[in-house]
Formats: sequence, C-alpha cells, structure tokens
Amino acid sequence: MEDYIKKKIKSLKLSATLAINEKSKKLLEDGKKVFSFGFGQSPFPVPKDVISALKKNADKKNYSSMQGLVELRKAISKYLNGRTNKFFDHQNIIVGPGSKELMFLLHLSFDGDIILPAPSWVSYEPQAIIGRNKVHWLQTSRDNNWFPTSKEIEKKIKSLKKKNIILILNSPNNPSGTTCGNLKEIGEVAKKYKIIVLSDEIYTDLKFDRKYESISKYYPERTIISSGLSKWCGAGGWRLGFFAFPSNLKPIMEMLKILASESFSAVSTPIQYAAVEAFTGDYSDYVNKTTNILHAVGNYVYTNLKSNKVLMNVPQGGFYLMPEFLNSKFKTSEEMCGDILNKCGVALLPGSDFGLKSNQMLARLSFTDFDGEIFLENIESSKKLDDDTIKKYAPNIVEGTQKLVDWSKNL
Ligand SMILES: Cc1ncc(COP(=O)(O)O)c(C=O)c1O
Repeated sequence: MEDYIKKKIKSLKLSATLAINEKSKKLLEDGKKVFSFGFGQSPFPVPKDVISALKKNADKKNYSSMQGLVELRKAISKYLNGRTNKFFDHQNIIVGPGSKELMFLLHLSFDGDIILPAPSWVSYEPQAIIGRNKVHWLQTSRDNNWFPTSKEIEKKIKSLKKKNIILILNSPNNPSGTTCGNLKEIGEVAKKYKIIVLSDEIYTDLKFDRKYESISKYYPERTIISSGLSKWCGAGGWRLGFFAFPSNLKPIMEMLKILASESFSAVSTPIQYAAVEAFTGDYSDYVNKTTNILHAVGNYVYTNLKSNKVLMNVPQGGFYLMPEFLNSKFKTSEEMCGDILNKCGVALLPGSDFGLKSNQMLARLSFTDFDGEIFLENIESSKKLDDDTIKKYAPNIVEGTQKLVDWSKNL
C-alpha cells in the first residue's frame, strides 16, 4: 500500500495538534482531567447578527464566482481600507475556504524558496513541501520578541541561489503570542531584494493594544495580506478566508483563481453572505470585549507562570503564550510536553512542531480553555478584568496554570 504514496507526501506526519488531541482523548477516556492548552481556536460565539445573516441566506444555493461574491470582496476592500489606508480593488481580492486553503494554492503555484521564521505556524512547512518549495528556517530569539531581525533576513536571502522568495510573517504570532516590532526594517530589506511577503494577519483584530500594524505599510509592492473570519469572529469552522494582492502580484492571483476553480470551486454561498455582514457591520464592541478577555486571561497565565525557571515574553495578541521551561531533564520539547500531559494533565504543543530546535524547552500554550459565551455575557465592554473574574469564568485556566507552576517547581 505504501508504494502507492508519493515519497514527498509520505514524509509528512499527522499534525501536532491532532496528535495531542488523540493523546488527550485517551486520558479523558481513562477518567482523567485534561486541561486543553494545546488546541487553539476562538472560545467565543460568532456575533448574533452574523449568525442571523447566515440563516437569512441559507436559501442561496447557487455556486458563486470562484473568486468570491463581488459584494463580499467590496466589503473586504472597505475593511482593509479602514486599516491600511490603502485601496485594494475588489478585483485584487480572492476569497477561499479558509486562508489556509489559499496558502496551499499559493505554494502549489509558486516556484521558489520559502523563508520561515522559527517559530511559525505548523502548516506552513508541510504546505511548502507539498508544493515542492524548499523551506529555509530562520531561528529567532526571545530578545527580538521571536521575530527575525532584518540583518538575519538579509543574510538568509543572500545565501539562497533562487531569487524567487516568499517570506511568511505572522504578527500577532502563532505560537509565540508576540507581535513584530521591526516591520519597517524588514520591509526595507524585502524591498531591496524584491521578495514576496505573505503577511498572515489572521490574529490582527485580536491585538491587545488594538493598533493595526502591517508590513504592507512599508512594503506594499509585493505584500499579500492574508486574513479571514476564523479568529476575530470565532468562525473557524465556517471556513472563510481571503488574500488581498498588490497589483504587481496579480499574475499569482490569476493562477490561484485557476487552481481554485479546479479544486474547491467557490466558498459556500450562505457563508459568504454572512461574511458580508461580518465585514460591514459594526462589531467593535464584540471585538473590544473578546480582546479584553483574551488580554486579561493571557496576562493571568503570564504573571502566574513566569518564574526563574519559566521564561516567557509578554502576550500581545491572539491566544497563545510560548513558555520556556529551563531544565536539563528532557532531551526534547516533545518529551517534556509528554511528561507535562502525563503528570498534570495539561496539554501543550512542543516548540519543535513550530520549527524551533527540539532541544529548546519551549512549548505553545493556548489559553482558550474556558466558555467564551458565558464570559462574554458577564462582563462590561472594556472594563479591566480582575483575577476574581478570571477565576469565576476561566477556572480551567486558573487550575491548569497552577498545575504547571507546581510541575515547574520540581524541575
Ligand atoms: C497563523 C495561522 N494562520 C492561518 C490559520 C488558518 O486560518 P483559516 O481558518 O483562515 O484557514 C491559522 C489557524 O489556526 C493560524 O493559526
């Protein structure tokens, strides 16, 4: 059977997230309590008016254009304009079943090298492998908030033979929870070498300081903006994302359109209508509240877990933290995460799954193990949330953090 599978594809393994879910499920079946700090998805419900728009449009049964409804692309154009102060014509926007699928198609059509800062989201590398593009990891450091410096990027570009290069930047970042503080200088280097930047802004509306920042400001010529409904709107399962292209890169978009038409055809039409509502309605109160909760919960974990044995950078957006547990007990971060799961029932993902060296004792911690609907209903807009509120509405976060604190004391 194995012979029927392509060699390149055979080298891929089950995503880390799924593997940890399997292990967690087994522990749950054995009657053990598991703190789900491994899997990262929005704990909040989709805003009510967006759900109403979906219901109202359930009868829209025809295929839409493969690039996405014009109405939706115009709505996204306006949404982007409000942030970037740049006009993205709706002709330069493509809608897909999740931004992940569009990234996949990008890797399929692109012929060149991919620079990935480590840490990076788990799917970028496998997608590049499937697309037969070589991945070049760029290790980053805590000192630079887990983003590469422009010098490091320049050195890497110079070392590559191929000059078709995509740099993928994701800020706020999964897994580190930090934001990139040197977008301007990275933009300058990218411009110097005319590389393509894929700016994955899926967590941008969950930035805790609520200030939009994008490398497209400094390097609009070849930056593709990627985002969607999955994180800020709590609608990961609805599968809707988009890419916005600068005019220079329109030939890539035309290729993506062809690949889209030969694969997913078009995104579910009712979901696209609901997305028109999401991108045109005023959801600032919802976003302020959800971000406020995430900020408070992230800070709670950060403040309580940080010690001389547990190093971490301040969370700045999204729903992740990346603690480093100083020890020489374990050979790999995977081994360490296995021990944490077995001893205290806290599921974390090892840093090695995000391109970090396996002997660095880093892990991704997702602080979404709480009922976002109840939390949301019980707080006022942007009021600062105290520890008692967190204890009341996010008890698993509090208990799981304490388990980690106790575990780390024995290192
Ligand atoms: C960094 C990052 N980019 C992209 C995605 C994919 O988002 P979508 O649901 O739009 O495919 C995720 C989802 O986990 C993510 O964490």
